[in-house]
Amino acid sequence: MKKSRSDNICNYLKTIDPEKLAALGTMAAGIIHEINQPLNSIRVKLDSILYCYKKYGEIDEKDFINKLEAISKEIQGMTGIITNIQSYVQRDEEDLKQNCDLNEIINNVLLKMEEEFKTKQIRIEKSLEKIPSIQGNIFGLESLIINLLCNAIQAFSKDCKSKVVQIGSFFKEGNVCLEIRDNATGIDEVLMDRVFEPFVSTKEKGANQGMGLGLTLAHWIVSAHNGEIEIKNNLLGGVTCKVTIPVDYLGSKKL
Ligand SMILES: Nc1ncnc2c1ncn2[C@@H]1O[C@H](COP(=O)(O)OP(=O)(O)O)[C@@H](O)[C@H]1O
Ligand SMILES: [Mg+2]
Repeated sequence: MKKSRSDNICNYLKTIDPEKLAALGTMAAGIIHEINQPLNSIRVKLDSILYCYKKYGEIDEKDFINKLEAISKEIQGMTGIITNIQSYVQRDEEDLKQNCDLNEIINNVLLKMEEEFKTKQIRIEKSLEKIPSIQGNIFGLESLIINLLCNAIQAFSKDCKSKVVQIGSFFKEGNVCLEIRDNATGIDEVLMDRVFEPFVSTKEKGANQGMGLGLTLAHWIVSAHNGEIEIKNNLLGGVTCKVTIPVDYLGSKKL
């Protein structure tokens, strides 16, 4: 008997790690939710423009422009979501067997973000120990560090007096470790269990901030390197994010 397309899909799904499949489901549900809402809102606005035009044979120019502007913003938001996911998917297809010097990646990221730290008056304290190189993806590790540093930067309120972000690397029990610690607001304990879920964010929605994908992507990148990521509130305020990646990592682990 000929196999149907859905049989093939079911068989393929059975080969995927159930945990990954669940994560994929959550991600898909999140994307559907995030895209559905602006789509509906765009439809309502377009319907109302059409309704007025059909009924009165003319359009109120001011109202029309306002609606077009709102629609454009909504499309921008959706494009932002897609670009974010796209950049991750493209990374996933890339080689995960590059020779990565984490200290060099950290230094490059800090150089790129130097101006941002300066203008926001955040002191950066760096402590990089001698560490072996790891096998992985340079672009992925770079985006991981950028995501974690951006979260630290965004967590400081404007009136905060002494803003410090510490970044460190060290080698421990066969793992290369990265630690990023800030003295900002910390994370609400209620939210702590959900920070790695897609679209969980306490920030204002926008194309560049507050999409709630930063830590989801960070988690995926670290998992692809067979590593672990942990986020904790510090006793004296702020957050510490710790990433451990094994050095004897063999073969790529597909997501
Ligand atoms: N260093 C941090 N300090 C305080 N809150 C943080 C920090 N890192 C993450 N968070 C919290 O976790 C949420 C999810 O982070 P993330 O997945 O990067 O999404 P986003 O930054 O787009 O909101 C943030 O909205 C914020 O509430
Ligand atoms: Mg973020």
